[in-house]
Amino acid sequence: MISIALLGFGTVGSGFYEILKREEEKIEEKINDKVSIKYILVNDLSKNREQISSDTIVTDSFEKIIADENIDIIIELIGGETPALDYIKRSLSAEKIVITANKLLVANYFKELIKLAEKNKTHIFFEASTGGGIPVINMVEDYLAGDKINELHGILNGTTNYILSVMEKETVSMPETIKKAQALGYAEQDPSSDLGGLDALYKIVILANLAFSCAVNPEDIYCKGIKGITSYDIMYAEELGYKIKLIAAAKREDSGLRIFVSPFLIKKDDDFASTVGADNSLEIKSENLNHLFLKGPGAGKFPTGNAVIFDLIKASRFLLGDYKKSRSKKFNNIKINRKSDFKQSFYIRLQIEKNDSIIKNIKSMFDESNLADMILKDGSSDTPLLPLIILTRKISIQKIEKFMEYVENINGVLTINNIIPLKE
Ligand SMILES: NC(=O)c1ccc[n+]([C@@H]2O[C@H](COP(=O)([O-])OP(=O)(O)OC[C@H]3O[C@@H](n4cnc5c(N)ncnc54)[C@H](OP(=O)(O)O)[C@@H]3O)[C@@H](O)[C@H]2O)c1
Repeated sequence: MISIALLGFGTVGSGFYEILKREEEKIEEKINDKVSIKYILVNDLSKNREQISSDTIVTDSFEKIIADENIDIIIELIGGETPALDYIKRSLSAEKIVITANKLLVANYFKELIKLAEKNKTHIFFEASTGGGIPVINMVEDYLAGDKINELHGILNGTTNYILSVMEKETVSMPETIKKAQALGYAEQDPSSDLGGLDALYKIVILANLAFSCAVNPEDIYCKGIKGITSYDIMYAEELGYKIKLIAAAKREDSGLRIFVSPFLIKKDDDFASTVGADNSLEIKSENLNHLFLKGPGAGKFPTGNAVIFDLIKASRFLLGDYKKSRSKKFNNIKINRKSDFKQSFYIRLQIEKNDSIIKNIKSMFDESNLADMILKDGSSDTPLLPLIILTRKISIQKIEKFMEYVENINGVLTINNIIPLKE
């Protein structure tokens, strides 16, 4: 009998539990043992949880759980840093196997948690932390163990992808779309981690750590989310043959590793253009497979619950001895290349006064530096403003930002609205 304590019974916890109950026989046959959820830890004991069977103890005391020597596996589905980090560390120290969906903790404490597991001859599994229902962790860590991964590109945040997809389809503002996403459960009440790119950053850090055997500090990574992107950007991008997507990427380079999260203009025939709504996708470029593209549900009760079930099966095999010897991890010291020296083309939207001499002035600035193709947009006849769209040639973000500081100071230039790179 494998005894489990489930910490958290929210979206993912209840999804995992319901799948386990529904497919119990099949899962136990796979594991070749019985599975018992002995405890479920929650915050609020007064909530109705009638689906939980009477032989499971619902508690708000982690102390009770950690004191129980018969627990084999602890599944952390609380989220956030406190108290989840403490619970995971204490579980590993008590030689329990840990399963978690907590991307924040796995990304920020990757080396520490893996080393702690190793020290205690146990293991931490985190398939559900990245890619929701797509088995990306398993793919990068195990399936491609005999391959050499060179690049990872992903749409790894379902919330922002949903927001951008709705804005593209319905030409609605971002605040309105966020409200819609919240009502449908696609966005949290505080969506800042999604909108600011942090959620995608944690996920690409986890994937990069596995793919390149390192332990990247998320704070070292260039991260820009989708705040500030408007329906205008989406509309102008569309006219030019592009869509806007939030892309997280990690790329092996001669001098180190380049990792970033940023919105990109992507061509309509790019594989990522078909990742719509709350879906996620991951493109892997490697020596053996050349190119692999995975797409599927990036979050949600059952897709994420399914990933936890997958980890449970792996964890059970570990517990039964199959994997016990294969867990030593090496952490390479890899230089993280800064964003400043990376050359790419950019889409720039600025607002100027509708005046021929101002347009001429800006054009000559760009012409002199041989920097860009410029596309003028007509402001409607009764407005004195003109949106100006510029597609640059390849240049580093540092240089274009500096250049745009000059442009911003030209008389008649009102605002630089957005600078977004173009995906090759
Ligand atoms: N939601 C998704 O689609 C998704 C996808 C991938 C990964 N994840 C990750 O999965 C984890 C869980 O997310 P979720 O969406 O399931 O969260 P959630 O719906 O907010 O559920 C959190 C659960 O944890 C319990 N909890 C909160 N604070 C606690 C505390 N101090 N002590 C004990 N229990 C506590 C809550 O108890 P009460 O029920 O009593 O309030 C609730 O049952 C997070 O790390 C998240 O990033 C989520």
